[in-house]
Amino acid sequence: MVDKGLFWINGVVFQYKEIFGKNTYPVMSILEYCENKGFSIPHYCYHKNLSIAGNCRMCLIEMSKSPKPVVSCSLNAQSSFVGNNKIYTNSPLVKKSRENIMEFLLLNHPLDCPICDQGGECDLQDQSLFFGLTRKRFYHQKRFVHNKYLGLIVKTVMTRCIHCTRCVRFATEIAGIEELGIFGRGSKSEIGTYVTQLFNSELSGNLIDICPVGALTSKPYPFMYRDWELKKIKSIDPSDGFGTDIIVYLKDNAIVKILPGYPTQDYSYDKHFFSPVQWITDKTRFVFDGMCSITDLTQKSISNWRSLLKQILINIYILDHLANHNLVLNSFIFLIDENTNLETLSILLLLKRRYNFFKLKRSIKTFSDSNLDFFLKTNQIDDTKDLSQANACLFIGTSVRYESPYLNIKLKKRNTAGNFRIFTIGSRLSLTFPSINLGANLEKLKNLCEGNASSGIVFKTIRKFFSLVNTESCQRWDSSSLLNLLKHFNKKHTSSKWHVFNLLNTSLNSLGLSYFNKFQNLSAHDLIRTSGVFLVGNSTRSYSVLEAYTEHTLLSSLLEKKELFFSPTFFVEQTSIPQLAQAQITKLLFHNYYSLVSNNFFETSGSFMTSQGFHKHVVKFIEPETNSKEDWQILRKFFCTLSNLSFICDSKSSIGFRLNNMHQFRSYINFIYKTSQTLTNLTFFFHAKSQTFVVKPLFFSKTQLCLTQFKTWIKDFYIGGFDCYSRYSKLMVHSSINLRNNLNTFSLV
Ligand code: SF4
Ligand code: FES
Repeated sequence: MVDKGLFWINGVVFQYKEIFGKNTYPVMSILEYCENKGFSIPHYCYHKNLSIAGNCRMCLIEMSKSPKPVVSCSLNAQSSFVGNNKIYTNSPLVKKSRENIMEFLLLNHPLDCPICDQGGECDLQDQSLFFGLTRKRFYHQKRFVHNKYLGLIVKTVMTRCIHCTRCVRFATEIAGIEELGIFGRGSKSEIGTYVTQLFNSELSGNLIDICPVGALTSKPYPFMYRDWELKKIKSIDPSDGFGTDIIVYLKDNAIVKILPGYPTQDYSYDKHFFSPVQWITDKTRFVFDGMCSITDLTQKSISNWRSLLKQILINIYILDHLANHNLVLNSFIFLIDENTNLETLSILLLLKRRYNFFKLKRSIKTFSDSNLDFFLKTNQIDDTKDLSQANACLFIGTSVRYESPYLNIKLKKRNTAGNFRIFTIGSRLSLTFPSINLGANLEKLKNLCEGNASSGIVFKTIRKFFSLVNTESCQRWDSSSLLNLLKHFNKKHTSSKWHVFNLLNTSLNSLGLSYFNKFQNLSAHDLIRTSGVFLVGNSTRSYSVLEAYTEHTLLSSLLEKKELFFSPTFFVEQTSIPQLAQAQITKLLFHNYYSLVSNNFFETSGSFMTSQGFHKHVVKFIEPETNSKEDWQILRKFFCTLSNLSFICDSKSSIGFRLNNMHQFRSYINFIYKTSQTLTNLTFFFHAKSQTFVVKPLFFSKTQLCLTQFKTWIKDFYIGGFDCYSRYSKLMVHSSINLRNNLNTFSLV
């Protein structure tokens, strides 16, 4: 039988050679193989993203030549199918074994399903339907376990725990927190944290998902829903530059929970570095908490859109009229948030074509010397194949753990696989895996390029490594020197085809904005002669930049005792979080203030270009409670009312507009969506200036560097990022307080 190269699962025949003959088949357990082929095997302790524990014994199967049932989660499929070529996952022996296991598991498990939050999505509840006994054989007292405090996100009812140890393995292997463990022996075993430590991790919410029973459930939203009452919608995470896939659960037009989603991109399967189940951060999981608070806090209703728009349009009309008669030189600035979607950006570009005095600005600076194909995104670091080949990486002033937890998890996995070293330049960081700090400033990098540093010997042995810089590093005045140093480092230490440079964008559509190549960063000079400012999108960064520059302009005019020629007429704020009231100084400078209330992220449809260069599209699935509008809907009004203009696509490579053609607008939106599916086919890509990757000769003595310490810009994961919603979430604010209380002088950020 073995010679024929056949094996049977529940009587269905498979060709051994066809499946395992080529050495390309990934290593997997019998359980995983059977699940892939559609034979379901119940399990509790097994999780495809964690190591194998083999302690629940629920996954027993029957094998020919094995005298007793065996655990399928810890046996290698490839080698097991050779000698034991008949496998049964549903034989009477298997069923009997599972019934016995279930009986043991239920001995101490409380029968409180009606008041358990896991009810309806509990593995134990599901399996007891098939393997549970209908009569009781145990009449002693059930054991009781005290609940543990695992932070603000996770509620514990430890009596329900079945000791599968998934939570312990998750904490150690993924979150990098070794504070969770199993105490006691036999019937006294219980899960808990060492020395009553808090479970301090930005990934703690994932414990709720991986616990197969109701021992770990959601603390902020208890007793809210049953799973079957909820509607599921696919979307993406707005809180960082990666746009992680999520599934949003809705009940009556309100979000009640967010879970990790399955990625929509076509990833190649690699068991070690990528697997389809993703982990999400607490910020992603409870991003809706902040959105709900905003709706409650701000009265988003606008009584009369028509008259409000009319007032703004009159102002623009006057400016346009003066510009047409060469009577005004002042520009009108559109300050655009990094999370603004591609459709809105396209409309702004069209507006710019119509009105020459419009200036489109963004609040951050990126490297201008750039090859658009690969230079503005994460390249090697995010590519599964390249990451597996690399044997070192260098982070420059980047706190990957908080700036991109998704990437940090990937790097942790790579580090665990071995033959991989991590170096950092900047503040000492707690990355959840070991790293070597080379220095606090860029001098070390310069020394490495010159060949003067002792650690250069280490780099000589490394042929493939990559560096990671964040967009905050581009704000430094020596950013071009930094870029050139990195190019030299690349040339010196790696092969010519290997590009060492990876840029970590911190906002959802930073890459999209960069690819347009039409949005320059705002400078103090821009504000000197401006007629007004139009703020698009929810950005605390835009406010702080604007405040800093207005302060600078005011101060310099006072110091130079010049009359203030900075006299903007009006300020328009198009955002879902009107917050000009906070920016008092800005309020002093602008004569008129208008607030146009737009929808929040989940109330808007739009496309984004993530840090990885993927195009992601989200659809609106919540109706706003007030009469707020989507960004593009508001901006469209400027076209229609002022000039009776509308859009049409002339050809594949350009977007035009013509009069009295409003019905074309819908096809315009579709046009943008379809053509931006891939990077090479982007409409705006044709307009963008593309430069080649040129390494300029480097004169070390002339390279000017800022030798102050690199500071991590994000010290508080929960409310410190550039996403606009987390700081309005009560839960995130409390988590932040918890984090700060548990930091001491010796702990790393
Ligand atoms: S708390 Fe949940 S995940 Fe952790 S060991 Fe118990 S049952 Fe397993
Ligand atoms: S799933 Fe195999 S022993 Fe638990």
